[in-house]
Amino acid sequence: MPKVFVTRAIPENGIKMLREHFEVEVWEDEHEIPREVLLEKVRDVDALVTMLSERINAEIFDAAPRLRIVANYAVGYDNIDVEEATRRGIYVTNTPDVLTNATADFAWTLLLATARRLVEADKFVRSGEWKKRDVAWHPLMFLGYDVYGKTIGIVGFGRIGQAIARRAKGFGMKILYNSRTRKPEAEKELGAEFKPLEELLRESDFVVLAVPLTKETHHLINEERLKLMKPTAILVNIARGKVVDTEALVRALKDGWIAGAGLDVFEEEPYYHEELFSLDNVVLAPHIGSATHGAREGMAELVARNLIAFKNGEVPPTLVNR
Ligand code: DGY
Repeated sequence: MPKVFVTRAIPENGIKMLREHFEVEVWEDEHEIPREVLLEKVRDVDALVTMLSERINAEIFDAAPRLRIVANYAVGYDNIDVEEATRRGIYVTNTPDVLTNATADFAWTLLLATARRLVEADKFVRSGEWKKRDVAWHPLMFLGYDVYGKTIGIVGFGRIGQAIARRAKGFGMKILYNSRTRKPEAEKELGAEFKPLEELLRESDFVVLAVPLTKETHHLINEERLKLMKPTAILVNIARGKVVDTEALVRALKDGWIAGAGLDVFEEEPYYHEELFSLDNVVLAPHIGSATHGAREGMAELVARNLIAFKNGEVPPTLVNR
C-alpha cells in the first residue's frame, strides 16, 4: 500500500477513509511537527497531508523522493511552493467549498462582536465590574456601531467573499467588492458593486478581507490605505495575517483612523503583540474561521477523496496545479 504521512491529527472520518487505501501515519502531538522530524518522516512517503503552518517547499521535496501528492488541509495554500511542486510533477490539492459557510459565519461573528463591543461587555460583566460600579441599565453604556443598512466592502470576492455578501443582504447592507476580476454573476445575484480598492476603503463602514495571500496582497492594507477608511469603520480579517501591516494597524486603532478590528489571522501564528492585544477596540481569535465540526470533517473527507482519487489514477477533485 502507498504511504501517507499526516502532519497533525485531523477528524477521524478522513483518517478512516485513508486507512482503506494507504498505510497511514499521523503526527499526534498537538504542536507542530519539528522541521527536522518532518524532513525525516517524508523520506519514504508517497503522499503528504499538510497544515497551513508548514512550509512545503524544495527542501521538503528534496527529502521526499517518492512524494507525488500534497493534500493541504486548508483552502489557502500560500504555505506551499506550488510552482516548485508542479515543476517536479507533484500534485497539490486544497479544501475549498466545505469550509465556505463556516468561515463566512465567522467573519460575521467578528464583525458583529467588534461593532457591538461584545468582548469588552463580556469582560465587564464577568469580572464583576458591572456589579461593583453599581450602574444599572444606562443609555450611554457600551455604545457600538450600527450594522443594519450600512455599507460593507469585501476585498476578495471568491467563494468566501460571496458567502459573506450573501449574509450582508439579510442585514440590508449596500455591498461593495474588490477582486482581481469582475464577478458579473455575483453582482447580479447579490446586488454587489465592484469598486477600486481605494474607493471601497473610503466608502465602507465595514471592510472584510477575504483574499488569498500572494505577492500582490502582502501588506495590501497598509498605513496609506488604513488612512483612507472612515474613522467609524471596522476592519475584519479572516484571510491571512500578512495581508495587513500590523504595525500600521496598531497605529490606526490607537490614533482613531479606524474604529476597530476583528482579527482571526496574524502575521505569525501563534502570535502575541502586547500593544495590539491591550486595545479594547479589537476582537481576537486564534485562526478559527473554519473551526466547526462540520467544516473540519468536510475538510478531512475532501483531503481523503483527493488522495484516494490520486491513488486510483483519477484527477483529484480539488487539484490546485492542473
Ligand atoms: C484555510 O482553509 O485556508 C483557513 O485559513 C483555515 O481553514
